[in-house]
Amino acid sequence: MVFSQISAPHSTPPAPQLRTAIRELCRERQAVILAHYYQDDAIQDVADFIGDSLELSRKAASTEAEVIVFCGVHFMAETAKILNPGKTVLVPDLEAGCSLADACPAEAFAAFRAQHPDHYVVSYINCSAAVKAQSDLICTSSNAVHLVNQLPAERPILFAPDQNLGRWVARQTGRELTFWPGSCIVHESFSEQALLQLRLQHPEAEVIAHPECQQHLLDLADFIGSTSKLLERVTSSSAESFIVLTEPGILHQMRRRAPQKSFHDVPGSDGCSCNTCPYMRLNTLDKLWRCLDQLEPGIELEESLRQRALAPIERMLAMSA
Ligand code: 13P
Ligand code: SF4
Repeated sequence: MVFSQISAPHSTPPAPQLRTAIRELCRERQAVILAHYYQDDAIQDVADFIGDSLELSRKAASTEAEVIVFCGVHFMAETAKILNPGKTVLVPDLEAGCSLADACPAEAFAAFRAQHPDHYVVSYINCSAAVKAQSDLICTSSNAVHLVNQLPAERPILFAPDQNLGRWVARQTGRELTFWPGSCIVHESFSEQALLQLRLQHPEAEVIAHPECQQHLLDLADFIGSTSKLLERVTSSSAESFIVLTEPGILHQMRRRAPQKSFHDVPGSDGCSCNTCPYMRLNTLDKLWRCLDQLEPGIELEESLRQRALAPIERMLAMSA
């Protein structure tokens, strides 16, 4: 069993050998490395599977590996643990949180729900297990429109925690939603001025955007979709150049899928580098190696909370199949 194999910490292999060392440890530990598109290029390159939130949840639900190493943020690893209570679920840096999850504390959310007792509660997967446990249905940016379209027309809906995604879903479905006032610090950082400047420099480029962006930026987009939909778009579109309104980690896979095309990320306001997700970027190859070596830090969840959080995730997986 994997736990008997843990020994005193070894010293981290030198950088050129890290990738091979990670793959070797992965084999020894019967582990699978799942990585989100926003991870550093080196992490994406060493992973077994790269995906968006929905694809990663599906993979976490179906994997036969003993150990899941989740290179993403805490709520993603927590979702993997909710789906796999008997497995070891590790995350290279436990501090890798999410501004959306942080913006929706469970107690405040309970009070908000109590003000809307007749509402069906749809929560974006970017939230804590304690908020999932208070939800009727979980969604991701890939399936939110599809799921909301399946809900009874007469039932009012409360949507949490991303108001930007929620407003986009409302526009797509024609449904009136009540929003929890959360947002993503990364997707709210993109500068409209920089975007307009990029459009002037690349008038032939298609503007593609994640629905977590604010509406004034989505209004300037030619195509809107989740990370996996944006990736599909760069190959299905005839455009040769793209201005990308989401975390620039995804440009790595875009360049792999369409090496002949060009991609431009949009800087944050004041030219800052705040268009990268500070939480996602806490994970590094060193920390990935270390967590495989020591089988920690891991995600633990109280069982009754896990069961309550599981029901709306399973509903999502069934409704989006
Ligand atoms: P996706 O569901 O598109 O992968 O998005 C996850 C996320 O955190 C976006 O900020
Ligand atoms: Fe959370 Fe935004 Fe980072 Fe996605 S990009 S993990 S929503 S903080």
